[in-house]
Amino acid sequence: MTTETTPTGAAPSSFGVTHPLDMLTAAEIRAAREILVRRGLVEETTRFPRLLPVEPDKQAVLAHRPGSDDFDRSVVATLLETGTGRVREAVVSVTAGTVTSVRELPTAEPPYGQPPYLFEEYDRAAEIVKADPRWQAAMARRGITDTTHTFVTPLAPGFFPEEGGAGRRMMRSLTFHRRHAGDNPWAHPVEGVVAHVDLTAGEVVRLEDDGDAPVPWDDWDYTPERTGPARTSLKPLEITQPEGPSFSVEGTRVRWENWTLRIGFNAQEGLVLNRITFRDGGEDRPVVYRASVPEMVVPYGDPAPPRFWISYFDAGEYSLGKNANSLKLGCDCLGEITYFDAVVADDRGDPMPIPHAVCMHEEDYGILWKHTEPGEPSQVRRSRRLVISYFATVGNYDYGFFWYFYLDGSIQLETKATGIVFAGAAEPGTENSHAPEIAPGIIGPVHQHLFCARLDMSVDGQANSVEEENLVAVPTGPQNPHGNAFTYERSRLARESQAVRDADSETGRRWYVTSAHRRNAVGRPTSYQLTPMPGPRLMAQPGSSAANRAEFARHHLWATAYDPAERFPAGDYPNQHAGDGLGRWTRADRPLTDADVVLWHTFGLTHIPRPEDWPVMPVDYAGFWLKPHGFLDANPALDLPDWSTRSSREVGTHGGECCS
Ligand code: NI
Repeated sequence: MTTETTPTGAAPSSFGVTHPLDMLTAAEIRAAREILVRRGLVEETTRFPRLLPVEPDKQAVLAHRPGSDDFDRSVVATLLETGTGRVREAVVSVTAGTVTSVRELPTAEPPYGQPPYLFEEYDRAAEIVKADPRWQAAMARRGITDTTHTFVTPLAPGFFPEEGGAGRRMMRSLTFHRRHAGDNPWAHPVEGVVAHVDLTAGEVVRLEDDGDAPVPWDDWDYTPERTGPARTSLKPLEITQPEGPSFSVEGTRVRWENWTLRIGFNAQEGLVLNRITFRDGGEDRPVVYRASVPEMVVPYGDPAPPRFWISYFDAGEYSLGKNANSLKLGCDCLGEITYFDAVVADDRGDPMPIPHAVCMHEEDYGILWKHTEPGEPSQVRRSRRLVISYFATVGNYDYGFFWYFYLDGSIQLETKATGIVFAGAAEPGTENSHAPEIAPGIIGPVHQHLFCARLDMSVDGQANSVEEENLVAVPTGPQNPHGNAFTYERSRLARESQAVRDADSETGRRWYVTSAHRRNAVGRPTSYQLTPMPGPRLMAQPGSSAANRAEFARHHLWATAYDPAERFPAGDYPNQHAGDGLGRWTRADRPLTDADVVLWHTFGLTHIPRPEDWPVMPVDYAGFWLKPHGFLDANPALDLPDWSTRSSREVGTHGGECCS
């Protein structure tokens, strides 16, 4: 640990920051780079595959008062020497103007690990592959002579030391032909060609060429120029809020109805929600300290040589947040929209703005509650939700992350998977139980998209416990003479070893985070409930490379005692890493009773691709709910306005008639 002062340090407010949890600003990223340059850590060949905010100390955040400038802002920058492959990680205090620490990352030693890929390495890998005579011969053998537009994919190779490459910065590239610049690059897979690329040495260390499937040449373009005139049958559907939205925004702080939270964003996790509270009787009660989806894995179930090694970690290998889309009004988000811009560091450590990275709006959500008593007017209240979302595109796939906040105190996360199925090629009519044919000559390998949400809970404070609830059928007998009885059992998950759990739809299994200190009107600890939407866990075999590296995906739930160093469930550097994260951490078996509890919830989608997913996939959904369960003493939405008493002009042409 060494410290050195430079004159670039300054108070957070001089960088446009007013709260410890504010997003990184362009000025801070510039300052951090400048501090590293002065320290002599940045050469012409140095790149910044990762630059993240250092999460501020939790107690300091909780103690922070508005207007106070007395807090530190630091970043952690990963520095890659592209000429040698050397990797260092430097912590920089932008506030103090100092490099706080520098450490070497032992990327050449077990268990290895590499920083995420640089954007410039996508092009570099393609140049290296296209210059290789073996690859050129493989293309020529298939009759592909003009490779100007041929797409060579920059793919993370997984971790297979027996195949060579351990400890080196590698990619495996597959080839998709493109006949012209606008051609759908994913529609013409060149099956069987796998290039093993050493990015540091700048060479193809091995080229596999063992597929003789024909390249499918059908056009599968989906842009309006190619698909022809759009249908004209859909009438406009306008969302109007003549008085504006019901939320207010101050910097990154959002208040909507009873909810308050702070919007965060970084290059690896994308959207982060901080300090989520729900107002109850004039008190903003804490629910979640920090919520994000810091990792996901997309493992493939095809044993064929071009694909057995595929299990993409889209956050840790490709930087989900750095790949965020700039969202467009009327397409991505509809209605009265507020956008949040984000800034991440580019490959060279300079600020890269992502305008409109996060979108926030309100949506009508049908009916929240209703009852009709004979002879009385119907009581109906409309549900509405606050939507905070972003989309990231990683190669062929596009992922939406949509957080929903409801008037009844519920929080929902919905992930949306769309984009283009990662295809291979086969002789038309081929039966393949790992990769069904989805269009003539095009196969879609089976695969999973498994997300891991990190929920740093704070239900009425930091001291929380975790419980599991299961429904229990009671055998007919003295306790159940009529056979109708069933009950439920709650059990405490008292230690990390007990809190590695799987969902069970048969028992309606749910998990609770309970407060150590606060009780509700019926004398129970206040609590929030995690309701999973059960789906398959990681299908890869225990002991396989995918299972070792994506251990988080082997179970639906993990709970850990808060440690600020534990942010990424597959470890900080999962790229080409043997495996790290939740499995290792929880071997400490820390107690979880009245502790600062973090839930890690794995959920997702398992895809057997179908023709309807081609050539671009309709959105598929996955997610979970967090619901108050004994957190409040009654339905918190009794005071919602009764819109049926408003005039039709106030609620829209057909409004006001629904309940009359
Ligand atoms: Ni899929």
